[in-house]
Amino acid sequence: MADMDGFREAVNFGIGEKSETQDFHVKGASSLGWGMKDRLSRIFNPRTGRTVMLAFDHGFIMGPTSGLERIDLSIVPLIEYADCLMCTRGILRTSVPPVFNKPICLRSDAGSTILTELNRNVLIDVEDAIRVNASAMAVMFSAGDGEQEAVTASNLTKMADLGYRYGIPVMGVTAVGKQMARDARYFALASRVCAENGASIVKTYYCEGFEKIASSCPVPVVIAGGKKLPEKEALELCYKAVNDGAAGVDMGRNVFQSDSPAAMIQAVHAVVHDGLTPYQAFELYEDLKK
Ligand code: 5RP
Repeated sequence: MADMDGFREAVNFGIGEKSETQDFHVKGASSLGWGMKDRLSRIFNPRTGRTVMLAFDHGFIMGPTSGLERIDLSIVPLIEYADCLMCTRGILRTSVPPVFNKPICLRSDAGSTILTELNRNVLIDVEDAIRVNASAMAVMFSAGDGEQEAVTASNLTKMADLGYRYGIPVMGVTAVGKQMARDARYFALASRVCAENGASIVKTYYCEGFEKIASSCPVPVVIAGGKKLPEKEALELCYKAVNDGAAGVDMGRNVFQSDSPAAMIQAVHAVVHDGLTPYQAFELYEDLKK
């Protein structure tokens, strides 16, 4: 029983004042439950509705990629500038100190390595995602890829079911295989299928006609950076993507393989959240690099 000494009766009922209806800043998420929305709010800044996710999950199929040889040296110093971290549970537990209070988008499937063709794809246990307090679970969807299309669609659906059960959003990651088209028609199809199967976020690639991909996808679309580009071009890519409807970036190599990764992630952040033009952002990058 609470101490009733000095108890004050409720008086301020706001009679006659309309209750505030809460609008939610993440596309397609208004009907989701509190836990899902809380996690999405940790990823997508409520001020801008956008995010800068730092992706360093590449090792799960590529091994020690350039820039990711020593996560403690290359990635940990960047964590403070990221809105969200995308990585595997192995790297999270071994190399990411649990003191930054950053949302984790956990790579939640495992595939075959780049040494073979994609031929198997399995999911991690959702309990492990809960154990590491994941804010989202990332699962690949490989549209147009023979039997992998069915396997990865089934994986995505299973993870979405588990995500709804426990309040953890799923991010559908549209795959790009060697044989696959990389145009707006393909990415729009793959992105839409992810959302229709329960993804609350989609990660895909920027291409000409991107506005159609973003517009026809009922959940936020973030773009991967892809192969390393000169910094100015990478900043242009971010600028075009958010202007064409992306809700931010999930960027890896263009940050951690940059000449100055800390300057680069801050410049990307300024484009995504503060609307800097590529020119302004590149100037910022040059300044910070000094
Ligand atoms: C690897 C991934 C990466 O997270 C994704 O491709 C983003 O990284 P990059 O910007 O380097 O393309 O999903 O499977």
